[in-house]
Amino acid sequence: MAMQTRAVENDLVGVILDDHQHLLELFREFDCEKAKSKRKTDMAKHIIKQLALHDWLEVQFLYPTMQKIDCTATHHALDAHMEAETLIEQLLSGDMDPESEAFREQMSTLITDVRRHMMDEEFNILPQLRKHFTVTELVNRGELWEKAKACAPQNPRLAPALSLHQGITAAQLDLNPAADELSAH
Ligand SMILES: [Fe+2]
Ligand SMILES: [Fe+2]
Repeated sequence: MAMQTRAVENDLVGVILDDHQHLLELFREFDCEKAKSKRKTDMAKHIIKQLALHDWLEVQFLYPTMQKIDCTATHHALDAHMEAETLIEQLLSGDMDPESEAFREQMSTLITDVRRHMMDEEFNILPQLRKHFTVTELVNRGELWEKAKACAPQNPRLAPALSLHQGITAAQLDLNPAADELSAH
């Protein structure tokens, strides 16, 4: 998905778009794999882990920042995250047989919902970040994202607060839009 928002590769917007691209490739491969194969089951597990990680990173880095510039969009997006988290937790609970029709249907629902949510992020959320924050701020934020991603635990949903991770402080997480930017909108 070529977006107007891709201007700086390693800023917060760039790293999120990279993650989206990677997830969309996984979804395409998963859709093409024949049903009831071991590979499809393994791919489902991998996708669920990658989605859990992406969800965790966005909730830590993207949405506290977005909240300061667009409450309504943030509220809708976090609803979508909570719905995805519920589906992910059910899929990870072990209550569903990964070979079952119920599991396949839940995976399909999750992927459809996430694809729709990514479109919202790419066309509505991410362009607003570029509008309200400087390149330097977004690059710093992108570096923090990569750092957190590299040291994320196996199940990020069970992780301690991000500020407890090495080298990332609460102050670094608190990014504020420039006052003149906000007053201009
Ligand atoms: Fe998201
Ligand atoms: Fe996303």
